[in-house]
Amino acid sequence: MTLRGAAALLVAAAALAGGVIAGSGRGAAAEGPPALSAEAAMAALGRRLFYDGDLSIDGSMACSTCHGQRHGFAEGNRAHPGVTDEPGRRNVQTLANVGRRKSLTWGDETLRTLEAQALVPMFGDNPVEMGMKGQEAELARRLGTNACYVRLFRAAFPETGGRIDAGTVTRALGAFQRTLVSDDAPADHYARGRRDAVSDTARAGAAVFGRDCASCHAGPDFTDDRFHRLEPVDPRDRGLGEVTGRSADDGRFRTPSLRNVAVSAPYFHDGSASTLADAIRRHGLRVSAPDEAALIAWMEAMTDRSFIANPGFAYPDGPCEAA
Ligand code: HEC
Ligand code: HEC
Repeated sequence: MTLRGAAALLVAAAALAGGVIAGSGRGAAAEGPPALSAEAAMAALGRRLFYDGDLSIDGSMACSTCHGQRHGFAEGNRAHPGVTDEPGRRNVQTLANVGRRKSLTWGDETLRTLEAQALVPMFGDNPVEMGMKGQEAELARRLGTNACYVRLFRAAFPETGGRIDAGTVTRALGAFQRTLVSDDAPADHYARGRRDAVSDTARAGAAVFGRDCASCHAGPDFTDDRFHRLEPVDPRDRGLGEVTGRSADDGRFRTPSLRNVAVSAPYFHDGSASTLADAIRRHGLRVSAPDEAALIAWMEAMTDRSFIANPGFAYPDGPCEAA
């Protein structure tokens, strides 16, 4: 997205957030069954919204259309077209531990909150994804016809009387996305000291990774949250340079998290690498064949099966959480 576009959306986000203070945990219901805390209501609401096509102009596209749980909340294509069939510009990113990222998306250091980010797919137009630009009132109208939503907005945002607008919708989406915590991959158990949690090959890969990769793919999510230029540069996408306007930032992209990387192919900002081996080669580093095989085994150990299968993150088909 362009700098101007991002700035406009950020201003909109700030205005919509309107200085509202996060819920204090006080339930809205004065009577009836155990009150749902505002925090729990917000995350449950966000989960329902994440899976709801009503967030798109023709009802056909939810966040989950592109961010599918079995791919670590990414998907299997190079890029995914929006509701108007405008082709996607970039590869869909994974969302495990997304609440920890210092900035969001491949190439925008100014996009720092999940609330601001969620405005981009809904209301952005570079490219059109969900196509809701100018449709805030329609969004509120649609969601307001659903009795469960009305109760959840009241429980989640008691201080607003359950207001439904882009501000409360994005806060709920943010609350749900912050619950997408992953720390149960074999690589995590290995990092916590269980040597036998991964194969011998993967252990060898961890050592190569520490030497050749961890300067950028650092920490528990295997990202330093910084922007790097890898050669050869993609001439069609300036990356960070598009946002800062500085040519020195052209071709710089945020190091992607490698959590669940084995199930989130294809790779790179443009989806140009279709396998983990392609992704390693695309860095232009010199990696021997045995080291490459070991690195792939180590990256496979970063798959958190319990995260991918967690029913609490799946399509919500249970009864309404708010009485
Ligand atoms: C049409 C497909 C599509 C839809 C629908 C979509 N996204 Fe995305 N999402 C993407 C792509 C592509 C990126 C990378 C964008 C970029 O770098 O410019 C992304 C990036 C993100 C990121 C940044 C992740 C990171 O690691 O920085 C978050 C968070 C996110 N999306 C949340 C959402 C939410 C919430 C919704 C629903 C309101 C949504 N997305 C709808 C395709 C989609
Ligand atoms: C100089 C920093 C740096 C180093 C060193 C580095 N990477 Fe990367 N890596 C990146 C960046 C930046 C990207 C995304 C580039 C893009 O999309 O254009 C990336 C992308 C990837 C991807 C694709 C992930 C995805 O979701 O698209 C994989 C896999 C990967 N790196 C693995 C490795 C391995 C294995 C090593 C060590 C052999 C390594 N990287 C070394 C910065 C680095």
